[in-house]
Amino acid sequence: MRRPLAPLLLCLQLLAIGAARSSSREAPASYAAASRQGHQPAYARNATVYGVSAALCPGCAAWAESLEFLYYHNLVRLARWELPLAWSPRMESYARWWAAQRRGDCALRHSFPEGQFALGENIFWGGAGGAWRPGDAVQDWAAEGVDYSYAANACAPGRECGHYTQIVWRDTTSVGCARVVCDDGGVFMTCNYYPPGNVVGQRPY
Ligand SMILES: *[C@@H]1O[C@H](CO)[C@@H](O)[C@H](O)[C@H]1NC(C)=O
Repeated sequence: MRRPLAPLLLCLQLLAIGAARSSSREAPASYAAASRQGHQPAYARNATVYGVSAALCPGCAAWAESLEFLYYHNLVRLARWELPLAWSPRMESYARWWAAQRRGDCALRHSFPEGQFALGENIFWGGAGGAWRPGDAVQDWAAEGVDYSYAANACAPGRECGHYTQIVWRDTTSVGCARVVCDDGGVFMTCNYYPPGNVVGQRPY
């Protein structure tokens, strides 16, 4: 059965990762240390995507979380030969505002009420004990791509593809994200996209 893609910015762009899931990402300490020594950040294994992302993130330090968010988004987009996203300080400040609201409860909650999204928004929660990094969030969102059928412009039954389709949405040009370690030790991350993707009846690319 064909299912249309999520209605305009429907509140499907969320993903919960159980606390039991182990993380293969490096801890922030070693990652910052590598950067200070003048090496490429540990996450930036692809020099082309790293360089393109750094150019589109003016003022981002080499070890900045913002650049890590952008790098992983552009890894996904450039693999599809799509234009890379630029970092948006406006989206970032919006995302930071929302992340700060979540510090106390770490709730996997959108900043917009259902049906009233003014920006694209992907959110992530990781339980206490995991050193959840921007790459964990973006890679998990992007992993939904295996369930997306371009021919049908639909997601596999019972699956979620909205995070992926927002990442690769062709008309989206910028992103800004934030990460907060919550009071209970969990991690909440949120990314906002402009122009927003997941427009009903349109294909992402
Ligand atoms: C870097 O990433 C781009 C986009 O995903 C890809 O096309 C390219 O092959 C990668 N380069 C290397 C050396 O892995």
